[in-house]
This record gives sequence, structure tokens and C-alpha cells, in this order.
Amino acid sequence: MKILITRKIETEVMEIIPESFDVVMWEQENSVMPRDLLLKEAADADAIFTNVTDRIDEELFSCAKNLKVVSTMGVGFDNIDIKAATKRNIPVGHTPDVLSEAVAELALTLMFACARRVVESMNFIKADEWKSWGPYLFAGQKISGAKLGIIGMGRIGKELAKMARGLNMDVSYFNRNRVLDTEETLQVQYKDLETLLKDSDYVVMLAPATKETYHMLKYEQFALMKPTSIFVNASRGTTIDENDLYKILKEKKIFAAGLDVFEKEPINQSHPLLTLDNVIAVPHIGSANVETRDKMVEITLRNILNGLSGEQLLYTVNP
Ligand code: DGY
Repeated sequence: MKILITRKIETEVMEIIPESFDVVMWEQENSVMPRDLLLKEAADADAIFTNVTDRIDEELFSCAKNLKVVSTMGVGFDNIDIKAATKRNIPVGHTPDVLSEAVAELALTLMFACARRVVESMNFIKADEWKSWGPYLFAGQKISGAKLGIIGMGRIGKELAKMARGLNMDVSYFNRNRVLDTEETLQVQYKDLETLLKDSDYVVMLAPATKETYHMLKYEQFALMKPTSIFVNASRGTTIDENDLYKILKEKKIFAAGLDVFEKEPINQSHPLLTLDNVIAVPHIGSANVETRDKMVEITLRNILNGLSGEQLLYTVNP
């Protein structure tokens, strides 16, 4: 059996792969397997261990004649053509649940960092501009007791809501469907998108990338937010119009934005968003703590091993 692993992964968790398997791994650190090599290696692979940076599409499925299972190391699977897999009876796995806390923590990190202007403050010290304590030096926004609006109340949304309730935040959400059990257990309130944007001090995007969520927030929607409010994106860059977010931030119509994800990753160094002091950008590290990443590797491998032995994957995304 040949397992193609498209990124360099070094962790003890890899030892669960039986020794008899032929493992082909892209060995270069911080780089994506080139497309032509991916197609070449996929041609005789039985399984593919993939991630957000690969395009697993019709072209790939049509040349991967031995393929029996694909699993991505992540919860999002917008990089995979699920229809193309399903029509060939290829199960596609992913790794939800284990990363929900980590992504919620990163969303909170960005909320805090934007609210308290952490990066700007550090740059100020580094530039030797700090001359004395100041009554309103880098005065930012409050989090405890403030209003949080979550767009997308899935597993990560629920985790964030739980953490935010611990900070005494007043939590609302917008989602395709009402999530009544969470409304009750966490005391969160459903609002339509417009009301949520108008009311919230923090708006956190956690909706997945789909046709329906493409550019869900454009200038018109951002303009509904308060001048003191903060926007955080920890799901996918395509859910918002980045040019419009830039305009809104530049015009100071909202206070700041914390971004973990971008329409095009990696974001170009010369992207206008990166010129703004009220933007904090991090390189798609939502689930990046070592323990969580180890669990994600393990579930990806277990999905693959199950798929190869014809068993149900731990988490399947095919309908
Ligand atoms: C996820 O889990 O979807 C992360 O964004 C990494 O792919």
C-alpha cells in the first residue's frame, strides 16, 4: 500500500503506519508539493494524506487509479472536490473536534491582541518611541462584558461561545440554522446578520468556505459595524471581501481586524491590509499547538488506515 503524504510531518504519531506500507512524503520544510509531482505520485497511491494547501480535484482523481481514501489534516475540506471523490466511491476524511478549542483560542487571541493593540505597542517600543507612561497610551477596547457576534455556530463557534461566556461576554450568533441546544446551554442569542453586525463589539467569522459564504461580508456589511468594533477571521479568507475590509479599516469605520486566513495564502507582502496599524495578521495558525496538531495527524492517519481496510473513517465528509 502506498500512502502519499504531501507535507513534511515529523512526529512520533507517524509510527502507527504499519512498516509494510510504502510512505512517500514531500520532504521540504515550509513548502508545498509541486502540482506536477503531486499528480505523478498520486497516480499509483492507495491513500493521500493532504491538507489545506493541496488542490485535490477532478484532474487528480482521474489520474489516481488506485486511490481508496483521502484524508485532510484539518476540519475544512474546501480544497477537495467531494463530488469527484464520491462518484468514485472514495471516502474523504477530515479532523474536526480535536481542533475546536485551539481555533477558538486563536480567535480569542486575535480579539485580545486587536483590542489591546499588542502588536502596535510592541512596535512602538522597538522603534524607541516609548518616552513615558501615558494616560491614554495605546488605550484600546474592553472585552469582558462586551458583545460578541459569532458568524457560524458549528463546533468551533460553540467552543468560542463557551470561552466568551467565561469572560462574561454577551454572545450572539448568526448561522444557516438555529442551534437551539446551544442557545439554551450557553445562553447565546440568535440574530440576523444585519442586527448582529450592528450590535456586536466583536464579530468573529467562523463559517466554512462554500458557495453560499463567498464574500458574505463586503463593504456594505462591514459598514454596519461600530467604529469601536473588531473583526476577526479564523475560518477561510474567501468569506470576506478583503479589499472592502481594507477600505473600512483605512476609513477607521471599525477599530481593528485580526486575520488568520486570507483569500490567497500566503498573503502577498505588499497586500494593502498589511500596511495598516489596525490589522494583526498571522499565517493560518488557528489549530497550531503541538498537542492539537499531533491529534490531527493521528486522526488523519486513522482515517486513512480505516479507509484502506474498508472500514468506516473516524470522520467522513462525503454525503
Ligand atoms: C482547518 O482545520 O480547516 C485549518 O484551517 C487547516 O486546514
